[in-house]
Amino acid sequence: MEVIIQPASEAASVKAAQIIGDLVRRKPQAVLGLATGSTPVGLYRELIRMHREEGLDFSRVTTFNLDEYVGISPEHPASYHRFMKENLFDHVNIPAANIHIPDGNTPDVPEFCDRYEAQIRAAGGIDIQVLGIGHDGHIGFNEATSSLASRTRIKTLTKATLSANQRFFSESEIVPHHVITMGVGTIMESRTCLMIAFGKGKALAVAAMAEGPVTAMCPASVLQLHRQTILIVDPPAASLLTRTEYYQHVYANKPDFQKVSAFPISSATIS
Ligand code: GLP
Repeated sequence: MEVIIQPASEAASVKAAQIIGDLVRRKPQAVLGLATGSTPVGLYRELIRMHREEGLDFSRVTTFNLDEYVGISPEHPASYHRFMKENLFDHVNIPAANIHIPDGNTPDVPEFCDRYEAQIRAAGGIDIQVLGIGHDGHIGFNEATSSLASRTRIKTLTKATLSANQRFFSESEIVPHHVITMGVGTIMESRTCLMIAFGKGKALAVAAMAEGPVTAMCPASVLQLHRQTILIVDPPAASLLTRTEYYQHVYANKPDFQKVSAFPISSATIS
């Protein structure tokens, strides 16, 4: 795992956007896995800026989102459909037909989940999966004790996640208890996992994910078994890591060929 500690969350978001921009320039038909939550907002803002000011072209890009609540409409202000529209899709040129977000209103959840997996495979797999992290180390909506081999499926949220996400709903509304989420195994098949985490509140989860034991109690820790995970954090989120000096030393002394791009040419350059 590559751990990159940036001076602040803004710089971390820009770094993450550069990694995605670099992929899209080298592989215009890139397949991006996208996340919601407050953490990736700055990353999406930077991608929009790169699109507007630098002509970053998303016209051949395909996207797959990690998750969605079951039973709320795509227009609901807290739905992940709406979040993605407002924070990215309305502002860049990804064709609507190339955008995939789990359908929380599907009449047949298992069939939908199988189809979602098949669509990811048919697109050639995910090149970069953007990830945030829950306070307890969950990724997507894969709560603690999720199978580390799980595929896209329905999950029931924990009380902690329900209360963490209440802020996106009005006071009188109940956060849906069920969600559809890519599985941990689905996420692990992405060629690169790009996790971003900011703030003191994420410090414990970040330390457990990067330096703790691999355990289903912290689903993100399975990324230690992934061959290309990049973790970009701000100093508060990095504050409980024990190998900070080493991570900074590695980053400051990267060989030139590693500075150019985060990606092995073989997986990123396709004609
Ligand atoms: C939810 C999402 C995750 C996200 C997490 C943290 O559980 N399903 O994808 O990483 O919240 O969100 P935030 O970035 O707002 O802290």
